[in-house]
Amino acid sequence: MRIEVAKSAGFCFGAKRAVDMVQELLHRGEKAATLGALLHNPQLVEELEAKGVKVVDAPRDTPEGHVLVLRSHGVTLEVEREIERLGLRFADATCPFVKKIHHLAGCSSEENRTFILFGDPGHPEVKGAVSHCKGPYFVCRDHSELQNLLKDHAELTNVPIAAAAQTTFHMGEWEKCLETLKKVCTNAAVFDTICNATAKRQKEALDLAGKCDVMIVIGGRDSSNTAKLGDICARQCRTYLIEKASELPTFPAGLSVGITAGASTPASIIKEVLVTMAEVNSTEQNFEEMLEESLK
Ligand code: F3S
Repeated sequence: MRIEVAKSAGFCFGAKRAVDMVQELLHRGEKAATLGALLHNPQLVEELEAKGVKVVDAPRDTPEGHVLVLRSHGVTLEVEREIERLGLRFADATCPFVKKIHHLAGCSSEENRTFILFGDPGHPEVKGAVSHCKGPYFVCRDHSELQNLLKDHAELTNVPIAAAAQTTFHMGEWEKCLETLKKVCTNAAVFDTICNATAKRQKEALDLAGKCDVMIVIGGRDSSNTAKLGDICARQCRTYLIEKASELPTFPAGLSVGITAGASTPASIIKEVLVTMAEVNSTEQNFEEMLEESLK
């Protein structure tokens, strides 16, 4: 069996920043609570809970004396106001790339532009971003939803609009949407807000899946960026989405296996998967070297 790990597998800048922020608070002897699970990764959340970090559903549930940590997806304007009203101590781990979309949403309204955000309307990042709009906005999941939107709201072809994408939006889908917006809308300002880390991870996953027999995508089942990686890989070869090493399938000998992981997957879980594969499969590869190389 030949195994290759995508260089971009695992924590992105924003996820690492959020985890570091919590660790830093604990290091300073503070008690911390996170507003929702810090990352879409149950193993990491359990690990933090074991260190005393609470997960709360709303700012008002923050236990006395705890610092409330806002996760990298960001929060809605209403939540920001509630935190302020309650006078809570908080640490804002909203990724700066997500903050940029909040800013664009707010500015679009000020410039009387209808805001169109491409992404999952149920995702906290998207809910947070559109909460900053003071004027009309729409959320499109994909290119076909954009086509329907333009059919139902013909005025969008002439009025000023601003378009942006959820940071983890599918690159190929965004390119299709852009092409349509440029062709159909006469006054569209478009902002490429897909995070570089996401674009790079998706491209590497696509390339790796194209040359492997099987892909393993490691990440939380609720993680949208992990799900997208799974979709991309599944179009190229047989793909398995797993959360942890114990979920690894068994493979016939002689296959080439590619591994990638979502932005909220800690290096420790990727390492565990590699170690398990090394134990189960006889391979001539030097796993110690590969672990060091891929998890640098
Ligand atoms: Fe930020 Fe990009 Fe990660 S937007 S949270 S660095 S995927």
